Amino acid sequence: MSSNTRVACVMVGLPARGKTYIAQKVCRYLQWLSISTKVFNVGNYRRKLHGAHQMHSFFDPNNKTGESARKQAATEALNDMVKWFKEENGTVAIFDATNSTRSRREFILNYCRKEDILVMFIESICQDENLILQNIVDVKLSSPDYKNIDPEKAAEDFRARIAHYEQAYEPITESHLTFIKIINVGSQVVINMIQGYLQSRIVYYLMNLHILPRSIFFSRHGESMYHLMGKIGGDSDLSPRGKRYALALPKLIKENLGDQPLTVWTSTMKRTIQTSEHLPYPKLQWKALDEIDAGCCDGKTYEEIEETSIRDQDKFNYRYRGGESYRDAINRLEPVIMELERQQNIMIVGHQAILRCMYAYFHNLPHEDLPYIRIPLHTVIKLTPKAYGCEEERYRFDIDAVDTYRPRPPPKQNAQQTA
Ligand code: ATP
Ligand code: F6P
Repeated sequence: MSSNTRVACVMVGLPARGKTYIAQKVCRYLQWLSISTKVFNVGNYRRKLHGAHQMHSFFDPNNKTGESARKQAATEALNDMVKWFKEENGTVAIFDATNSTRSRREFILNYCRKEDILVMFIESICQDENLILQNIVDVKLSSPDYKNIDPEKAAEDFRARIAHYEQAYEPITESHLTFIKIINVGSQVVINMIQGYLQSRIVYYLMNLHILPRSIFFSRHGESMYHLMGKIGGDSDLSPRGKRYALALPKLIKENLGDQPLTVWTSTMKRTIQTSEHLPYPKLQWKALDEIDAGCCDGKTYEEIEETSIRDQDKFNYRYRGGESYRDAINRLEPVIMELERQQNIMIVGHQAILRCMYAYFHNLPHEDLPYIRIPLHTVIKLTPKAYGCEEERYRFDIDAVDTYRPRPPPKQNAQQTA
C-alpha cells in the first residue's frame, strides 16, 4: 500500500439506513489498526450553520433555500475533509451524509479527483419498514434535531423527512464508480470496481457486520501459579484461587444468558483452557489469543526486567526482545475481531494484554492509553453493542487474586516545575 493513498468513503442512502452507524464502525476499526481515519458528518455542519431545529420542509427537494443551505453544509464538510487529508496526513475520510442524488455525488467526485483522493461509495439500502421504525426510535428521537420535541411529533417529522429524500433518491447505478451496496443489512452485498488493499479491507469488514442483539463477555483466566510468583508470560497452571474462579464462572454466565447459545474462545495456554473447563458451551482455541509474547523476558518478574522503565516510555510500541509489542498483538488479533463481528454471543477467556487490545477496539480507546486499561482478575466484563457504541457491565467475583496492574508512571517533572 503506498503511503500517500487517500481514500474518501462516501456514504449513500436514505435517512435511518445505518450510514452513521457504518461510518463510525469503519472509523473505529481502521483507527484500531493505526490507519489515520476521520468521520465528517454533514449533519453536524448543518446544525452548526443553520441551527438544529429544522422541520421536515427544510429537506424538501423543492425547497430551494433548504437545498442551498444543505449544499453549503456539505461543501464546508468537504473543505474540512480535504484540509484534514493535507494537514494531518489523513488516510481514510468517511463523508457521512445521505449523498442520495447523482448531482451531489458528481460534485463530491469532482472535488476529490482534483485533490487526488480516491472515492469509494458505501450505499446502504434497507426495505425493512420495521427496522427503519426501530432505527428512528433508537437513534433519531434522541438526536439534537429533536431535543425537547414530543417523541411522537419527532417520529412523524422524521418520516416526512425520509419521504422528501425518497422523492429525489437515485441509487448508484454507474458502473464506472467504485462502490459497495449493502442491501438489507448485508443479506445481499454488491461490490464494484474496488481498488487496492485499503478498499478491499473495508469491503471485507463491511461484509462481516450484523446488528442482531448479542452479548460479548471478556474474562481473564483465573489467577495462575506464575501470578503468585510475580512472573510474566509462561504457561503455568491455575492457582487454587484461580481454580475456584473457574468453578464459579458457569453460574454467572448462565444467570446472564439463560438458555441462549454461547461459544467460548480461549487461547492455547493452559490457564485459559483450565478457566473455561466447567463452562458448558462449545469452545474454540485461538493461537491468536495467546498472551503478548514477552520474548527474552518471559518467565521473569517486572523487577528482574531491566527494560521496564524504557517500556513505559512508549508501552504501546515497545517490542520485547525476541517478542512482541501491543502494536504487534493488535495485528494478530485482527482476524479475531473480524470473526467476532460475524458471531453472536461470545465469551473470550483471555489474557491481560490481549483483552486490553480487544476492549480498546470496542470502546474506541487511544493506543497510548490501551496498555494501561484495567482488566482485573476474577472479573467478567459484559459488553452489549448498541447503536453507536457499547454498554458495559462488570461482575467482580468474591475470590481474592493478586493485582497484576502496573500503573502508568507519572510524567517526569522538568527542572523548572520542581524548582
Ligand atoms: P441519517 O441519514 O438520518 O443520518 P443514518 O442512515 O445515518 O441516518 P443511523 O443514524 O446510522 O442512520 O442509524 C442507526 C441505526 O441503524 C442503528 O440502530 C443500527 O442498528 C441501524 N443499522 C446499522 N446498519 C444498518 C443497515 N445496514 N441497514 C439498516 N439499519 C442499520
Ligand atoms: O501478568 C500477567 C500478564 O498476562 C503477563 O503474562 C503479560 O506479560 C502481562 O500481563 C501483560 O501486561 P503488561 O503489558 O501491563 O505488562
